[in-house]
Amino acid sequence: MEFSIKQGSPEKLHSGCVLVGVFESGKLTDAAQVLDKSAQHYISDIIARGDMTGKAATTLLLHSVPAVASERVLLLGLGKPAELDARQYRDCVRAAMRALQATNAKEVLLYLAELPVKGRDSAWCISQAVLAAYETAYRFDRLKSKPEKNKKVLQKIQFGLLAAKPTAALNTAVSQADATAQGMILAKDLGNLPGNVCTPTYLAQQALTLAKKHKTIKTTVLDEKDMQKLGMGSLLSVTRGSAEPAKLITMQYLGADKTQKPIVLVGKGVTFDSGGISLKPGAEMDEMKYDMCGAASVLGTVQAIAEMGLKLNVVGIIPSCDNMPSGTATKPGDIVTSMSGQTIEILNTDAEGRLILCDALTYAAKFDPDTVIDIATLTGACVIALGHVASGLFSNQDKLAHELLAAGEQSQDRAWHMPLWEEYQPQLDSNFADMQNIGGRAGGSVTAACFLSRFTKDYRWAHLDIAGTAWKSGKDKGATGRPVPLLTQYLVNRAAGSK
Ligand code: BES
Ligand code: MN
Ligand code: ZN
Repeated sequence: MEFSIKQGSPEKLHSGCVLVGVFESGKLTDAAQVLDKSAQHYISDIIARGDMTGKAATTLLLHSVPAVASERVLLLGLGKPAELDARQYRDCVRAAMRALQATNAKEVLLYLAELPVKGRDSAWCISQAVLAAYETAYRFDRLKSKPEKNKKVLQKIQFGLLAAKPTAALNTAVSQADATAQGMILAKDLGNLPGNVCTPTYLAQQALTLAKKHKTIKTTVLDEKDMQKLGMGSLLSVTRGSAEPAKLITMQYLGADKTQKPIVLVGKGVTFDSGGISLKPGAEMDEMKYDMCGAASVLGTVQAIAEMGLKLNVVGIIPSCDNMPSGTATKPGDIVTSMSGQTIEILNTDAEGRLILCDALTYAAKFDPDTVIDIATLTGACVIALGHVASGLFSNQDKLAHELLAAGEQSQDRAWHMPLWEEYQPQLDSNFADMQNIGGRAGGSVTAACFLSRFTKDYRWAHLDIAGTAWKSGKDKGATGRPVPLLTQYLVNRAAGSK
């Protein structure tokens, strides 16, 4: 898809379909008023007849409207003007994109940029529209023997401005949203691929491919022998039952002077989590192919910022393996030594994410990081706490937490701040090792974060538990590409912060 911004009157500019908004009060947006005037009340007559109420996220497609250059007009209901906030705008824009994709129009002209969305500017309106265009067009059918005829009619999207000229800031909004959307597509594709295709080796190949495409990225892949030498006994304990070789993938993006400390992203890359000897129940176990969505979000984010050419240094680290039962698998009660030297009693082999992350987090210190953020489908408890709306956010520094929360608000990929208080730590006490890998049912997502915090004392750190947000179940089963928007926005903000 191609995007551009153009100044001009909606009735004059030619396209396959011009979109204008109408409110539930019957009030027309500025662009709709201009169209209506030119078409001699064609639109207000339809509204008077009651066929378009302006209810949020409803649409009405009109053909050959008199005195309008475009072939079609799409009316988009925006709801009540006072209620047009970020969420409502997003619902409306998604509905609009679906309606546009159902037409045969190749080029469309959208008057969305200048809508009065509470607390948001034109750049934001445009970004969200670009993301919605890709979001609603996304299909994953490459593994069907006869992929649906992917018609992909919609090719060009123009954002119309009534009076203002396109600015550099608006053009940047378009290109950055495009890069973010491509990053989300990469993350979704990797998440949706099954465990027999998307293995640790496959993820490593993806990271090598990224380095081939971008001179600014350098990828290295460590194998099990290398990890052994580094003393990653915790990570290696998870892969013991699997025939697939584990990988530790590192992508270094150099966008600023190499003396500038990097922001390190660490993504959980369990390409299938059966639970190991602490085997999971059968129902919906297939969804544990998504247990590498943290890793996928790191790949997607690194791709996005490389595409943007952000002036920032970022390192992506992906510890990747399968968690499988077998005669060689780790057993409940086994005690392992992590790279940090701390020993861990593994009471449940299904709490494996923290076991691979702790060694990756120790390894992250080698890069002398400014900040480390890990992203993981870590706990079912986080889904119970926050559902599928917000990712769980934990941090050892409030300032960092607030920056991430803000990036989530900006990108509408939200997180919620959870506690990381000392009072939870004793739940991890073990009789036989420095700690155990589970803390009981109470506060399961907090004790998982507490476990990680024991390996991140030397730097500023945040942890995102994306167990509830990385994919959808049921009829709409599929990866969401989250939290690529949040992470990318955070990095854009950091790059703008001149550091
Ligand atoms: N990958 C799972 C977490 C998960 C579960 C994500 C369900 C999304 C949906 C993780 O490895 C896991 O199994 N966690 C256990 C931890 C428990 C054994 C302490 C869990 O949440 O049940
Ligand atoms: Mn598990
Ligand atoms: Zn897992």
